[in-house]
Amino acid sequence: MELIIVKNYEEMSEKTFKIIKNVIKDKENPVISMTTGGTPRGLFKKLANAFNNDLDIEKVKFLNLDEYIGEKNAPYTVYRYMNENLFDLVSKKPLSWDYIHGDEKNIEKEIERYKNVLDNTKRDIQVLGLGVNGHIGANEPGTAFDSTIFLANHDQSTIESTANEYNIDISDAPNQMVTMGFKEILEADKVLLMVSGSKKAEAVKNVLDGPISTACPASYLRDKDNVIMIIDEDAASLLEK
Ligand code: PGA
Repeated sequence: MELIIVKNYEEMSEKTFKIIKNVIKDKENPVISMTTGGTPRGLFKKLANAFNNDLDIEKVKFLNLDEYIGEKNAPYTVYRYMNENLFDLVSKKPLSWDYIHGDEKNIEKEIERYKNVLDNTKRDIQVLGLGVNGHIGANEPGTAFDSTIFLANHDQSTIESTANEYNIDISDAPNQMVTMGFKEILEADKVLLMVSGSKKAEAVKNVLDGPISTACPASYLRDKDNVIMIIDEDAASLLEK
């Protein structure tokens, strides 16, 4: 893992944006797999802006890390977030966007379909955020490190974070999502783990200073060469070294 510590949220967004921008510029048909939530909002703004200027969205294939189980246009879905924070803001369309259908009745069949997509699509970039409990995607504490795409139950802290992020009542927050496993996440050429703010400092300390253990899912990324962790000073504030 390469660790990059930047000053603040803006610099974290900018640093991540630049890495993605360079990959999009260099590759013929780059495949970018995004995460959603609070952490990448600044990154999405920068991407939307660049796609309306000199960065070519028409050659980009988009995929997603995960999707909540629920109505497609519920306030928290990855589907809605991707539209509201990117596709609705950009005048041109990407080459393709294949997302997980969290409203599919036969969810096992949908998981199989998306697994097939992932098995046949080499990803250049996977963007990740970090949960306060150390999760990545919905690989919550206790998930085996050999996980592949699956239907996950959320920890209570994750349900609370979702309710908070999307300004909804906790009773309306989803408690399950389909998520890539560690296997698919780590298949990307570059995995960008973004972390900002003091509320993530304990999780960051566990990722970098604690044991590599399923108790802190993201600790598994620590010895992986294709992972770049981009964190701000507040998120790094409890680190020893
Ligand atoms: P957040 O979530 O970006 O909304 O803090 C991070 C995550 O749970 O992956």
